Amino acid sequence: MGASQNLFFLLLISCYIFTLVAAQDESGFVGTVDPKLLKKKVTTSHFRFYWQDIVGGSNATSIPILPPLPKFNNSFSAFGLVRIIDNALTLTPNLTSKLLGRAQGIYAATSQTELDFLMIQNFALFEGKYNGSVITILGRNVANNKVRELPVIGGSGVFRYAKGYAEASTISFDPLTGDTVVEYNVYVTHQK
Ligand SMILES: *[C@@H]1O[C@H](CO)[C@@H](O)[C@H](O)[C@H]1NC(C)=O
Ligand SMILES: *[C@@H]1O[C@H](CO)[C@@H](O)[C@H](O)[C@H]1NC(C)=O
Ligand SMILES: *[C@@H]1O[C@H](CO)[C@@H](O)[C@H](O)[C@H]1NC(C)=O
Ligand SMILES: *[C@@H]1O[C@H](CO)[C@@H](O)[C@H](O)[C@H]1NC(C)=O
Repeated sequence: MGASQNLFFLLLISCYIFTLVAAQDESGFVGTVDPKLLKKKVTTSHFRFYWQDIVGGSNATSIPILPPLPKFNNSFSAFGLVRIIDNALTLTPNLTSKLLGRAQGIYAATSQTELDFLMIQNFALFEGKYNGSVITILGRNVANNKVRELPVIGGSGVFRYAKGYAEASTISFDPLTGDTVVEYNVYVTHQK
């Protein structure tokens, strides 16, 4: 190595050190994280849940908090409708089957011409090592499509740093009660 190269590296390193020290000194609220704290091994899991949208009766878990806009009150799109949900996630389409978790969040009708929903929901799981962990899903749900893809945008617990997607397909709709069962297949990459 020539003297100029040595000098170059020395400058580079001191710039680097200076930046690090300066950043920490000036701000005081940010630092780097020990890489050992970040588990690096990841795995991809496929979960299947049945999402129970119970809209009527004394056990409703899907409650309208904003009605459709007056202009869309009688339209199929229900534009403006917002519901808050605490829906059961069950093992089979049967509402009385094993409760695996709850889908908590809101969904809103966001199309003026068709039945599309913006879904914002946390899948809070109860089972085994997933108990207490959450998968966060945010996406567009075109209700009349056979399969809808919604992004997994993150999570907590086992699902820290999670990413992936969910496929939602309607299994049943009861025209009398308005209750809907949706199968969610969630493909999520997360830390082991
Ligand atoms: C509400 O849930 C309770 C307990 O599971 C059940 O006994 C009751 O029949 C349900 N009511 C309705 C209207 O579904
Ligand atoms: C919307 O329509 C329903 C049923 O037709 C009615 O009960 C409700 O008052 C209407 N709401 C508005 C905001 O117009
Ligand atoms: C749902 O499960 C309950 C309890 O196992 C059972 O009695 C009922 O027949 C099931 N319903 C359907 C539609 O399979
Ligand atoms: C999940 O964790 C909660 C709180 O720690 C506990 O009360 C509950 O029994 C657990 N559920 C299962 C199925 O392990």
